[in-house]
Amino acid sequence: MRAVRYTGAGAAAEVTELVEVADPTPAQDEVLVRVAAVGLNPVDVKIRAAAVDFGPIEYTTLPGWDVAGEVVAVGPAVDGFAPGDPVFGLARFPRAAHTLADLVAVPASDLAHAPAAWSVAQQGGAPLAVLTAWHAFEAAGLTGDATGKRVLVLGGAGGVGHLAVQVAKSRGAQIVATASRAKHDVLTGLGADEVVDYKDESALEEIAPVDVVLSTVDNGVPPLGAVREGTAVITITGFPDGAEDALRAAGASVVQRIMVAADGPALAEVAALADDGRLTVLVDGAFPLDDVVAAQERLETGRVTGKVVVTLS
Ligand SMILES: NC(=O)c1ccc[n+]([C@@H]2O[C@H](COP(=O)([O-])OP(=O)(O)OC[C@H]3O[C@@H](n4cnc5c(N)ncnc54)[C@H](OP(=O)(O)O)[C@@H]3O)[C@@H](O)[C@H]2O)c1
Repeated sequence: MRAVRYTGAGAAAEVTELVEVADPTPAQDEVLVRVAAVGLNPVDVKIRAAAVDFGPIEYTTLPGWDVAGEVVAVGPAVDGFAPGDPVFGLARFPRAAHTLADLVAVPASDLAHAPAAWSVAQQGGAPLAVLTAWHAFEAAGLTGDATGKRVLVLGGAGGVGHLAVQVAKSRGAQIVATASRAKHDVLTGLGADEVVDYKDESALEEIAPVDVVLSTVDNGVPPLGAVREGTAVITITGFPDGAEDALRAAGASVVQRIMVAADGPALAEVAALADDGRLTVLVDGAFPLDDVVAAQERLETGRVTGKVVVTLS
């Protein structure tokens, strides 16, 4: 089968190649998936550029963690999936998963039945990004009915941000998001109640206090005026020096960096929301496997709206 491989550290065009490798065999508790679409995530390109482990995230020369496709076979201990089922998942994360290939063996617990309301590109693009938002809101205590809560998403237009806005909205929260001006209508269309231009310092300072902040922006910190007694501040990228103390001094009760993990049961809840028409995935671009270098370069602009996806056929 075909697989994407990195030959080492470097620019996408220099170190990305398509190779032939042996087909995987599913273990007892695994599902063999014929891959149709794979979301690219910043971790896929950061690992390629640096060729190192990122903390618990395993370095791999065979990239890809997101996956959507059709079940080909199941291991003897697998319940709930059968050949022909459309599935989606975040495979093995933070261990290497090699989903950018024609076939991949994925632990059944990392998969869910794919939402029929979404295209295959949307199914492949969502898992890592939406689970990041899901787990961040769990860490913030924003689960169940969040009516009356205010949520600030820093970086509302990116892969994680645009899904976070919708997940919080689906729970009844009021949403404030930051984005460049050109993307404000997109965010409003996804349910944001207020959108603030992240380059407008005075508009940022005027954001009224919120209950939860999710920062998806490198070194992102909320304006301290948005923090009050009991605000939960979650980052997925890390805080700059001194920011954690300042946030606690402003009253934040939770100041935490989280990392996403594979989670099939949460994706089943995501699929239900999608099929209910309450969650969509914006596909910034869908690139065929032969254009996997262009897909990486697009993601590396840092300017995508939604998800970059690689499609296979
Ligand atoms: N901890 C974890 O488990 C975890 C999981 C997923 C991702 N991450 C990390 O989180 C970060 C975001 O991931 P992602 O997939 O969402 O990235 P992404 O899709 O590449 O994000 C791009 C978006 O960020 C926006 N943006 C850039 N600078 C901004 C700023 N200062 N304020 C507001 N928006 C800004 C851009 O909008 P404009 O074009 O308008 O500037 C663009 O829409 C990456 O560093 C990634 O490695 C961590």
